[in-house]
Amino acid sequence: QKIPATLIPGDGIGPEISEAVVRILGAIEAPFEWDSQAAGMAGIDAHGDPLPKSLLESIRKTGLALKGPLTTPVGGGFRSVNVTLRKEFELFANLRPARTLISGGRYEDIDLVLFRENLEGYYAAMEHYLPVENDPKAVAISTGYNTRAECRRIITYAFEYAVKNNRKKVTIVHKANILKLLTGLFLEEGREVAKKYEGRVEMNERIVDACAMQLVMDPYQFDVIVTTNLFGDILSDQIAGLIGGLGMAPGANIGEKAAIFEAVHGSAPDIAGKGWANPVALLMASGLMLQHIGRKDLADRLQTGIDGAFASGVRTRDLGGSAGTKEITDAIIHHLS
Ligand code: NAI
Ligand code: MG
Repeated sequence: QKIPATLIPGDGIGPEISEAVVRILGAIEAPFEWDSQAAGMAGIDAHGDPLPKSLLESIRKTGLALKGPLTTPVGGGFRSVNVTLRKEFELFANLRPARTLISGGRYEDIDLVLFRENLEGYYAAMEHYLPVENDPKAVAISTGYNTRAECRRIITYAFEYAVKNNRKKVTIVHKANILKLLTGLFLEEGREVAKKYEGRVEMNERIVDACAMQLVMDPYQFDVIVTTNLFGDILSDQIAGLIGGLGMAPGANIGEKAAIFEAVHGSAPDIAGKGWANPVALLMASGLMLQHIGRKDLADRLQTGIDGAFASGVRTRDLGGSAGTKEITDAIIHHLS
């Protein structure tokens, strides 16, 4: 039985990598029935809107989307479509796994998962100047907030993920020594939630700056990490660095009614249209999407294909090789079974 899903090819290299991913998913007979929708610059071209109504309606119907990167013009233009989608569909959990795919890098066998709170903290973006912007004595103010309910929801989600995926430890990352209320609340809820998982999942606590150092010194002490929005933004890019960069890092934005899966990298305008883009990050994101709909069997097959292609030595240019999008896609399909 087919599962309706929204496909947002995206901007820049987006259409090239989306096409590759749809081809590979076809080869494993993934049950998605795609509804393709424009957003970002492509949305402006097609509908005069970076976030067209037809896209929102599609996600409202399917509750499931695979999203290519979107170009956000710097300075004005429009608000980040990504942030707006998170708000619109209340995608409270941002899942960012980091697993070594190619050995011989700085670290071997990295395998950790980070959950970032996706709706609150300093991303609420309630910013203003006092007294006014162009006053020489202007003060810029940003107000962040965390709610007890949202802290509990994201932390519970991380613990549940640990139980379901056979992970042993959840680390609560905070800065409660300084932001005693804003992130103290998060820590407090972390301790509360952890009690329910005693004996099943171990809990520990880290202050964010120390955590950043420990991730570099000894990443193997971590398993599942859960943290607030801004800290999660920074640490999730850091863990992508542990596995060789954003080019192979997938992410998922998950809510109770919808989930949107994406590559972590951007639209790579410098190589768009050249046929060089690496589709692996978006493909890994589609693997998370398969797990989300309960098809871990198919996600495992995708992983076999990716591992096989890399083991055979195929490398795109961003990985120091010369393979194009088509060559790596063919190689992955060849190694699927
Ligand atoms: P970027 O990630 O697009 O590119 C950074 C560098 O990595 C470039 O040299 C690019 O060629 C390379 N690269 C990225 N993905 C690659 C892939 N799959 N295969 C091969 N090489 C790859 O970041 P940049 O240049 O800062 O942003 C470009 C645009 O993308 C901006 O408009 C930005 O706002 C947007 N962006 C969108 C995101 C999203 O939709 N989730 C996330 C990050 C940026
Ligand atoms: Mg970020």
